[in-house]
Amino acid sequence: MGGTAMTQTSPATQTRTPLIAGNWKMNLDHLQSIAFVQKLAWSLADSKHDYATVEVAVFPPFTDLRSVQTLVTADNLKLGYGGQDVSQHSSGAFTGEISGAFLSALGCRYAIVGHSERRTLHGESDAVVGAKVQAAHRHGVVPVLCIGETTEDLEQHGPSAVPVAQLRAALEGVDAAKGLVVAYEPVWAIGSGQAATPEQAEQVCAALRAVVVELYSSELAQTTRILYGGSVKSGNIAAFMREPNIDGALVGGASLDIDEFAKIVRYQKHIGV
Ligand code: 13P
Repeated sequence: MGGTAMTQTSPATQTRTPLIAGNWKMNLDHLQSIAFVQKLAWSLADSKHDYATVEVAVFPPFTDLRSVQTLVTADNLKLGYGGQDVSQHSSGAFTGEISGAFLSALGCRYAIVGHSERRTLHGESDAVVGAKVQAAHRHGVVPVLCIGETTEDLEQHGPSAVPVAQLRAALEGVDAAKGLVVAYEPVWAIGSGQAATPEQAEQVCAALRAVVVELYSSELAQTTRILYGGSVKSGNIAAFMREPNIDGALVGGASLDIDEFAKIVRYQKHIGV
């Protein structure tokens, strides 16, 4: 978007606060989560991290959320947290599902929706993902909507077509003014050690922002954060964050290493601003 190249270098003109988010996936139990969040908060406090300049959030397993909430509240931490999924339903006979109402009651700011592992391992369709976006909204939780193409999609359709189609499908009937974060995570880059190039990721993120303009408005697109995810490390985050349409990262493996994650959060030190 015009002028957004400024956003990483000039907080005064920043229209989108960058978000660095750690998706723990099925790692760390509730006791481990307490130790982890405490150390992460200390590490970021030591380096005088300003959460207003770069927002930080973690996505622990559901069973950790109460522990994380208690710690965040007791120590008045500025760290956000959220669920890794949310049910499309609000309550009822849905064994094993977690309602957005429960996430909201635990102070979750966010819920990841439509992660590729849920799409492939749990058969979540675009329609289900869209229903989950709406469920998050019903309960005042901001969905972090994940989209991304497989290697086959890339070969057959090029870089943007599948993520763009997924975004359109998931946003059908969604009032995006209620808050939305988009996470572009190419499936081939997740856990592979082979991240997209910043140029590739920027191309797709720009196409995704154009969808938000088309479906809603350029004002909303200016404030909607679009993250990149897939083998993000401290060594490559700065290059992604230099791109005008990339507003943060959804980090998997590297978010489980406190020093590494803290370095990713502090990417501005490597970017030289
Ligand atoms: P990795 O950072 O381990 O590639 O995982 C990315 C991811 O799936 C975050 O949701």
